[in-house]
Amino acid sequence: MRAERRGAENPQVASLTSAGVLWPQIEELAEFTAEPGAAGVTREVFTAPYMAACQWLAGLMEQAGLAVRSDSFGNLFGRLEGEDPAAAVVMSGSHIDTVPDGGRFDGTLGVLGAIEAVRQLRAGDWRPRRSVEVVAFAGEEPRFGKGCIGSRAMTGTLARDALETLRDRSGTTLAEAMRACGLDPDELAAAQIDPKRVHAFVELHIEQGVVLETRGLPIGLVTHIAAQHAMRVVMRGEPGHAGATPMGLRRDALAAAAEVVLAVERLAQQAPSGTAVGTVGAIGARPGAINVVAGEAELLVDIRDRELGARTETLEALLGEIEAIAARREVGYEIETISSDEPLTASPLVLGAAREACDRLAVEYTEMISGAVHDSIILGRQVPIGMIFVPSRAGVSHSPLEYSEPEDLERGALVLAETLRGLAA
Ligand code: HGY
Ligand code: MN
Ligand code: MN
Repeated sequence: MRAERRGAENPQVASLTSAGVLWPQIEELAEFTAEPGAAGVTREVFTAPYMAACQWLAGLMEQAGLAVRSDSFGNLFGRLEGEDPAAAVVMSGSHIDTVPDGGRFDGTLGVLGAIEAVRQLRAGDWRPRRSVEVVAFAGEEPRFGKGCIGSRAMTGTLARDALETLRDRSGTTLAEAMRACGLDPDELAAAQIDPKRVHAFVELHIEQGVVLETRGLPIGLVTHIAAQHAMRVVMRGEPGHAGATPMGLRRDALAAAAEVVLAVERLAQQAPSGTAVGTVGAIGARPGAINVVAGEAELLVDIRDRELGARTETLEALLGEIEAIAARREVGYEIETISSDEPLTASPLVLGAAREACDRLAVEYTEMISGAVHDSIILGRQVPIGMIFVPSRAGVSHSPLEYSEPEDLERGALVLAETLRGLAA
């Protein structure tokens, strides 16, 4: 492979040799799931399989010679002490929680890849000037509606109140789930980091899109991360008898919600930016019986775009449509914002280090935008961040069919290792 050949010629990167451990580690991690035997992985944050996976991961970090600790929110860290313990640290990692019935690569690559990158560097007798910390953020996926809660806790942008109001699909609050895992919600503030203590953060991740595959390139360096506006929309009509209420006399909340679903799709398709995406990923009706006209319907709506202005335009158009639908159907509605993050530009420091790493390793890359959200977008408000992507087969993610080639994973870890070497020098 080109990367290894060039590396062998260059004494600085000659020590980087892949041990081929990532694939078996990803397979082993996939065993920690709430649905053994299913094709997909279900490992939501603060569940028993998640906590067991964290324990397994802590063991892996220890084997790699990292000092393990977790913070008051359950974010897990493995630290390699640098020659100058007072210098701001270089961090790298991602998440090991999944969406329900998700894939085995989303997030896990960034955590296992960071451990592997540090192992490779250490095998070459490397002692960085800056300490390097591998992190597994707790709860990147939105079990409780809001995603990236671990990085929000670290940046002091998760309110204590939210731990009581955020609930999962079965009504469990975030605070209850934390307590069940031995974490004290009242200690939330202790998870906050001092951003001045972080020199840079680099996240290795699968692309979850088709840019790299289409162009036949092994690496993508992220320049921008598109951001999500997530909200809960509740349509309120009047419950009634499905047999005895004439069609003309109904105020059907679910039928109104169905119009909203289609409006989300249409407005995203027609957005002038050409890059908007809109999704209603969950719908619920109450009382939820076949012979009762729904009195209430709840939608979880996700709208994203690369530019905040463009996303706001789509959002405002949608709010106008919801009002019009509600007026025409004589139903009420409520809208609650779950999260609204701004798109982020990657830091020139990290992007530059990643570009240099690819050049040193003679790995081809392209610069690209991330359509998916990552903890990097939260951390990036306070510390310099960058992301390294590897190809995803057919761009499929959040699905059991998510797949990346073993050599692409290994190459990603190699590029990450070389990027960390540059940043920690
Ligand atoms: O939703 C996202 O973009 C991420 O996978 N949490
Ligand atoms: Mn994901
Ligand atoms: Mn992810």
